[in-house]
Amino acid sequence: MTDPTRYWEDLHPATGVRPARSWLRSDAQRLSLNGIWAFRLSPRADADTDFVTESHPDSHMDSHPDSHTYSHTESRWTQLAVPSHWQLKGHGRPAYTNVRYPFPVDPPRVPDDNPTGDYRRTFRVPDQWPTASLVLRFEGIDSCARVWLNGVELGVTSGSRLPSEFDVTAVALRDQENVLAVRVHQWSSGSYLEDQDMWWLSGIFREVNLLCRPPEGIEDLFVHADYDHRTGSGTLLVESSVPAQVSVPELGLTFPTGEPVAIQSVQPWSAEEPKLYDASVVSAGETVLLRIGFRSIAITNGVFAVNGRRVLFRGVNRHEFDADSGRAVSDDVMLADVLLMKQHNINAVRTSHYPPHPHFLQLCDEYGLYVIDECDLETHGFLLDGWGPVAANPVEDPRWEDELVDRMRRMVERDKNHPSVVMWSLGNECGSGRNLGAMARWARGRDPSRPLHYERDWTARYVDVYSRMYTSHAEVELIGRREEEPLEDPQLDARRRQMPFIICEYAHAMGNGPGGLTEYQQLFETYPRCQGGFVWEWIDHGIRSRTAGGREFFAYGGDFGEPVHDGNFVADGLLFPDRTPSPGLLEYKKVVEPVRMLASGEHHLSVENHYEVCDLAHLRFGWVLEEEGRQVAQGVLAIPATAPGENSVIALPTLPATTRETWLTVRAVLADDAPWAPAGHEVAWAQLQVAAPKSSSLGSLSAHPSQVGSVVDGSQVRLGPGLFTKDGRLTRLGELDVSTPLLDVWRAPIDNDRPFALAAQEPLWRQIGLDRMEHRVDEVDVERNQIVAHARVAPAGTMLGLRATYRWSPLDDGLLLRVDILPEGDWPCALPRLGVRMSVPAGLGHVTWFGQGPGEAYPDSLRAVRVGRFERTVEQWQTPYVFPQENGNRTGIRWATLTDGDGAGLLVEGQPTVDLTVRRWTTEDLDAARHTSDLVAGDRLWLNIDVGHNGLGSASCGPGVLPQHRLEPQPTHFAVALRMLRRP
Ligand code: GAL
Repeated sequence: MTDPTRYWEDLHPATGVRPARSWLRSDAQRLSLNGIWAFRLSPRADADTDFVTESHPDSHMDSHPDSHTYSHTESRWTQLAVPSHWQLKGHGRPAYTNVRYPFPVDPPRVPDDNPTGDYRRTFRVPDQWPTASLVLRFEGIDSCARVWLNGVELGVTSGSRLPSEFDVTAVALRDQENVLAVRVHQWSSGSYLEDQDMWWLSGIFREVNLLCRPPEGIEDLFVHADYDHRTGSGTLLVESSVPAQVSVPELGLTFPTGEPVAIQSVQPWSAEEPKLYDASVVSAGETVLLRIGFRSIAITNGVFAVNGRRVLFRGVNRHEFDADSGRAVSDDVMLADVLLMKQHNINAVRTSHYPPHPHFLQLCDEYGLYVIDECDLETHGFLLDGWGPVAANPVEDPRWEDELVDRMRRMVERDKNHPSVVMWSLGNECGSGRNLGAMARWARGRDPSRPLHYERDWTARYVDVYSRMYTSHAEVELIGRREEEPLEDPQLDARRRQMPFIICEYAHAMGNGPGGLTEYQQLFETYPRCQGGFVWEWIDHGIRSRTAGGREFFAYGGDFGEPVHDGNFVADGLLFPDRTPSPGLLEYKKVVEPVRMLASGEHHLSVENHYEVCDLAHLRFGWVLEEEGRQVAQGVLAIPATAPGENSVIALPTLPATTRETWLTVRAVLADDAPWAPAGHEVAWAQLQVAAPKSSSLGSLSAHPSQVGSVVDGSQVRLGPGLFTKDGRLTRLGELDVSTPLLDVWRAPIDNDRPFALAAQEPLWRQIGLDRMEHRVDEVDVERNQIVAHARVAPAGTMLGLRATYRWSPLDDGLLLRVDILPEGDWPCALPRLGVRMSVPAGLGHVTWFGQGPGEAYPDSLRAVRVGRFERTVEQWQTPYVFPQENGNRTGIRWATLTDGDGAGLLVEGQPTVDLTVRRWTTEDLDAARHTSDLVAGDRLWLNIDVGHNGLGSASCGPGVLPQHRLEPQPTHFAVALRMLRRP
């Protein structure tokens, strides 16, 4: 029996709240109570409550009528912005755990150490407000709150990401200051239901409003706007809590609520063409404005369709996050997310793992994104092996049923009028249990129009789509063929086999990655049942912080001294914490591009339309011809409108002759401004090679006899412009002080390599010693025209090794290095990378290259890069993954120059191509760093010139590198020319 005074531990801690209803845009008066409130944080839940009345000695009101603060509060009262999280405003500290509860698991009890925020502010009911009911609405309080007005208790609420309303008509005072007091507990029984993988952040983090509810006001509306794709007609029914008139001016319609209306012809809503009809609903007391989207959702023959067309979800999982304000996100941040998604060819969002701020759904309606709206429910910590009986899991324990159904109700009621919401999700990672069934039953009864989603019960017993997460490519293929492992229960199995399949989370975007997106997309495009997925996740939740020295970095789990935490697992998004797109997002954009252009024979281009609704008329197609990265011609292409799913083949233009390596780049850009991007925004592109690279630009090897192989003194050897030690190490190239290229296999492990990864590479790599290879030179042959060093590169304690032969030849202006590598022993792992590492003076900080770019690329993530001529400083070359790791590899390098301010420096020339990385620190520094601020520029530039890289995969939570992208040790040859660049 729980102690009744410990209401925050009730299984259903809600008293005094009004019934759930939609979030409506209304002409009824509203007073925002956002702003600065008085605040104090107590370490426990049971501090005095005498602050709730005006007479409390700590809280003399400021006499200034506009002030919402207190002038004479005790020092422990301070000010706090609403909405915000107190931990991000200097009170208490953020804490991050993924699965584990950060408190003893003993539901519904929570620790006595329960940080509790007391909030107070005053307000006046505006004089001009009519006599009406008054309602206090909270959009989100984390995690449980008790509310008083003028000392009268209104009730208690929990469900952090769900709204609550209290009727204050009888309590609010006219013509006087009202004192609103809210006590917010960090931990409550609700915390057991809110074990999402994110920071634990508390407080009133969404808006607070006082609503004037007029007599005859519209309490709630339910819009049913259906579309029949066979006839192009629509039906519209608006259910209302009071009789009202609906007008849709654009359709010339006025009709009463409660009566369905048939419309002969409407334009449907879809993510691609999000047509909304402005409508008003007018009752005797209130006008509500709606934006109506007509659409149908159906699952037919195992395929999920909107308006009769199969949808392929090119989705992301979006947590609400801002690096400074946490889940208290502004309208600007929400808009930025939607625009970035649209600009990167994303068409769907799963609101992992709670209903987002309602404004976000308005934006999804308006700009066009399909939404899986997920209930605020995750009990993941109950699923950890051996942790107590499953019966204690709130989704199984019947005592929690009301609370869970209430959460579902509050989401569905709030969001039911958004055309963008195409599925309801019961929650995330709770295992299975009867209460999920109760939630599903309630949702189906209330809104039969939307299919239900839930992932963690693989029998799909309660839901309408088969959803999984981090499924391997091979298993997706089996599911696509309907050849998946059968369920034990034949009935459930037959039912599930008829369902569409989505991967609600895949391609874990933690650190450098994900790799393997292309192969997933191929499966989604091959099997009708496989309807795409949602990359995990949209944004890194790194909290903007500074070192003592003032350097900015993004903090992750453990950085706030949390005893229990999950490190940088919180930084696994396609956006960096400051919303800069990561290379992973650029890759995703390319992989899911809605137009695909391919060479068709030698002189034609095939243009495939992968949109579901649009033809190609909204795009403008252009081409550019580049010879060694320099534009030599350009033009436009006339592409027929091409219906969705169709393709057009057009003749390529006649191109001018070129002599060097030449590429034709074809781009599809927006012809006109779209709401989400300006005209000219690139949607898709392709490159066709027109002229192959010349076999080698080396020219003849140099033959300055006096300089070849001559011994300078007892310890040095000269070869062309190169100066070598006796044991074959290059020390100078002309004027340049270089450190010799040495075989290198090590990369600072990426998150997908690390020990927590499902296919972890790092432990084995370190065990073998790939991070501490030793170099032994066995023999150096100084010949007339070359220096050949025979070496063995191997770690201590094993017979595994790599024989390396470095063969140096002189060029007029440099040296040619040919390297042969022969693995010895039975290698149990792929190599992280393979190539040579060298250093040059720090002044050569400007890099120009002809190769693939402009961004980084790895074998299983290289669709986003194109062949061209690019320039970056060494600083810009780095990708600032929140947890430092291998990054910045540029691939397909034909040549790259590293120059100082005067244009002098080094030319690195692939024979024919190499991969290149340039840094101001060593791999060891990168490996040792824990935050970007740990990386400090040294007095050298470190170059990795590679012939191969291991792929990225997404093993930090999911499958490892696909076999075709693994860098298996095998006999390898590569060559690179190093040339001096003199001041021009
Ligand atoms: C999933 C979970 C997500 C996130 C992800 C790993 O299991 O649903 O919330 O934790 O793993 O980043």
